[in-house]
Amino acid sequence: MKTINIAIDGPGGAGKSSISRTIASDLHFIHVDTGAMYRAIGLYAVRNHCLSPEQMTDCIDSIDVTLKFIGGTQRVMLCGEDVTDQIRTPEVTMAASKVSAIPAVRAHLLDLQKKIAAENHIIMDGRDIGTVVLPDADLKIYLTASAKERASRRYLELREKPDCPTYEEILRDIEQRDYDDMHREIAPLKQAEDAVLVDTSDMGFNEVVEHIKTLIREKLD
Ligand code: DC
Repeated sequence: MKTINIAIDGPGGAGKSSISRTIASDLHFIHVDTGAMYRAIGLYAVRNHCLSPEQMTDCIDSIDVTLKFIGGTQRVMLCGEDVTDQIRTPEVTMAASKVSAIPAVRAHLLDLQKKIAAENHIIMDGRDIGTVVLPDADLKIYLTASAKERASRRYLELREKPDCPTYEEILRDIEQRDYDDMHREIAPLKQAEDAVLVDTSDMGFNEVVEHIKTLIREKLD
């Protein structure tokens, strides 16, 4: 079976995952959030104090990351434990960005990502999907928004929660992560030459979803 593969890349906080999840559910595709896989390895590194490239390279083969899809919703398993709800802390976010720059970590996840795409109709989001993981994807989108806009969306999401960081702290973390993701040597975040740029700075959520669904329909018809 030839599967349909849609790649959505872009910086953190651009809404890739929530937008991909909504579109995948509407189209009855599977949504694969590859960031969650890097986050699972980041969580492992935090728990086991092995964040350095040398330590990670030594232990990567024993880190088993798998995905389960329950009703189309992705759950991330780390060595058999469901860690989906534990990988969103600021500490794991920064650890994920760090471990994602390590070649052995990327090689470890690449095969799994390719395999899922070969077996399912998917919308896969991440940083290097259009450039490295699925260079022949049916459609590639580069989804972005200004760092200030992404920081203020994140602040609005978090402001009711205890220990909410300030807007300035969120903006600083976003800018740092953008820089790290775009400047690492291996599979840096960048727009694939054949990707369609969608800047959501001045777009509402539903508007973005409809726009991308139109791009998908145009491409597949
Ligand atoms: O999308 P996210 O914030 O959940 O991603 C967490 C980290 O994982 C991010 O800093 C970059 C990295 N990542 C990556 O390098 N390649 C991907 N395909 C997806 C995420």
